[in-house]
Amino acid sequence: MARLVAVDGELSGGITNAGAVFRRGEFVDRPAQAHAAAIHRFLEALPEHGFTGAPTPVGLADGREQLTYVPGDVALQPYPAWSMTEAALTSVGALLRRFHDASSAIPLEPGVPWTTDLADPRGGTMLCHSDACVENVVFRDGEAYALIDFDMAAPGRPLWDVAMAARYWVPMLDPETAAQFPSYVGLDPVRRLRILADGYGLSADDRSVLLSVIDEVTVVERAEIAARLEAGDTSFAKAFDKHGGWATWDRLQAWLVDQRATFLAALLR
Ligand SMILES: Nc1ncnc2c1ncn2[C@@H]1O[C@H](COP(=O)(O)OP(=O)(O)O)[C@@H](O)[C@H]1O
Ligand SMILES: [Mg+2]
Repeated sequence: MARLVAVDGELSGGITNAGAVFRRGEFVDRPAQAHAAAIHRFLEALPEHGFTGAPTPVGLADGREQLTYVPGDVALQPYPAWSMTEAALTSVGALLRRFHDASSAIPLEPGVPWTTDLADPRGGTMLCHSDACVENVVFRDGEAYALIDFDMAAPGRPLWDVAMAARYWVPMLDPETAAQFPSYVGLDPVRRLRILADGYGLSADDRSVLLSVIDEVTVVERAEIAARLEAGDTSFAKAFDKHGGWATWDRLQAWLVDQRATFLAALLR
């Protein structure tokens, strides 16, 4: 289960900063966002509000930031079986809840140009992680322990993070698309969305709007992909075409509409 990681060297798992994230002993050195100082202040406030599942910032200079390396296991494609268990999924929900309990107690810093890339278009009064994909969660002993990579953090509704996590951890993919990824084969999305919601402790009211927030996340991700293609990212375009391009997105969005009542029934049962 342990992932072999060189003590020093390039860390893979991301797309945005691929080839630019390095481990140096106890620290990670990575490109910094323009507003990284505000992200660091937020990360520093998290443990003061009882949440210790995030890296501690240690430096910021010359467009790069340094944070503590969080020892543990990160699942990378193809995701190992341990990362797709129902216990792992429950723990991802619980981790997000603990994060939100702390984040909601931290006053949102005014005047920060938070990124809008994967942000909740409706905004919010607390900071969301906004990118709780599989590669951004560190596990210990099979349980989600920490969130990493706060580049996309932005104000939003807590449901935004639950919906984003659902997209990747359930995952919210139609069977034909899921079949393209060996780690997703055989997973029951209806059962797993319920497990994520239970792990988070989602209220009945939130359960009844979760599917529409997942639709919104999907629309925002589509726009983000379009922007990336527009910018001429060729390796990204190749991977996009390999997985069926926009036809895949059309199909999965139609599936979300088609399966909505089934998901809702399982969530509210
Ligand atoms: N603080 C950290 N602790 C442990 N692992 C990390 C940390 N930061 C990054 N990593 C590892 O490096 C990978 C890429 O880093 P990340 O910051 O997520 O880059 P990107 O912005 O490209 O997604 C992660 O998926 C994870 O495996
Ligand atoms: Mg990442």
